[in-house]
Amino acid sequence: MDKTNRESFFSISDEVVPENDALRFDIYINSSSNESRDRFVKITASGTSLTRNELTEMKQKYHQLYVPEIQRELYLKSLVKSDQFTDVKKTEVIKDSAIKHLNRLFDKDKEFTNEVLGEAIKGCRDSVENMIDVIQDYDVSDVQKLIANLSFHDFYTYDHSINVAMYSIVTYRSIKPKASKKELLEAGLGGLLHDLGKMKIPTHIINNPGNLSDEDFEQIKKHPDYGMELLNEHTCCHIEGIEFDAIRRVVHEHHENFNGSGYPAKIEGEDIHLMARVTAIADFFDAITTKRSYHEVLTTEDALQVMQRSVGRKIDPKIFEVFTVQIKDLVLKGKTNRELADDFDPCQPHNVLPFKQVKAEVKHSNFLKKDKQEFGKVMTDDEKKKNKKVS
Ligand SMILES: [Fe+2]
Ligand SMILES: [Fe+2]
Repeated sequence: MDKTNRESFFSISDEVVPENDALRFDIYINSSSNESRDRFVKITASGTSLTRNELTEMKQKYHQLYVPEIQRELYLKSLVKSDQFTDVKKTEVIKDSAIKHLNRLFDKDKEFTNEVLGEAIKGCRDSVENMIDVIQDYDVSDVQKLIANLSFHDFYTYDHSINVAMYSIVTYRSIKPKASKKELLEAGLGGLLHDLGKMKIPTHIINNPGNLSDEDFEQIKKHPDYGMELLNEHTCCHIEGIEFDAIRRVVHEHHENFNGSGYPAKIEGEDIHLMARVTAIADFFDAITTKRSYHEVLTTEDALQVMQRSVGRKIDPKIFEVFTVQIKDLVLKGKTNRELADDFDPCQPHNVLPFKQVKAEVKHSNFLKKDKQEFGKVMTDDEKKKNKKVS
């Protein structure tokens, strides 16, 4: 009989236990009905293979199943490698794990030590690695469909950071089709940690979806510097398989604008790290297309048109061109006559997206002139099958 504290376990759903396959993790239950006196008991040992009937029985008998925290990575890996679950289910579990690690980073009550940062970033790295495996054949549209099927939480920064990580991975891979696993890990971690510096900003400011005072906005504008300082100060962060240079640059440069009008350093063009330019596009797209409890969202076509109006000012034209080609089934019917100012902050929740009307006709880039046939390419059978799995 094992007995230990709640921190040492995480709960899983019986729906995400592989059947007829030797388990690579132990399953526990909490046999105590008293919350202050947990009593975790192992009911299935790693190596056991459970039939469907046994799993159904388990489901009926026990309210909640647990896996030891030290086996989390084994659990995630066996889930991701299994073909018994949809990509949505897999991503939900990866997302829960990423949220847990982000929560540790953003926990203002916890003393922030090298150890806390190192462990949380290691956990984020594992989450991103599993994410890369799930979305290995995905393009931007597939990620968008996947995100639409995930449940969201009411803490904007977590959901948003996880989405930005997935969009950054597929966008980076479309620019560099031969990108190494290390590069993809860095692109994903850059996306996941881009707002790391917000842990130093009061929660009531970062979660405020209303109009921010100038003073609050000045505070928010410090988060890229704070994030970089954190990564610089805590030099312990040696995590196998990744280097922090690119991640540090994403954290510091994701609010720089292509024309040099951003913050904090007002650098421009290709002086902004490639991964930070990728993150900026992922950041923008997610902020205006993903359903929130805050504001209504734009259709993909309207979103691209709004983003198109920022090309060359806020975002990198070449990366944006590649990004749009990554969007399948695109029907070019965006008719919105609105745009967002160059200081639009995708990292911040908004009650209403702060649009302004476009005054003069804006010259469209090539992608908007091209016809539907070119961009709205017909899906192959394989793609249809994959999409079905996602939804
Ligand atoms: Fe940010
Ligand atoms: Fe963001």
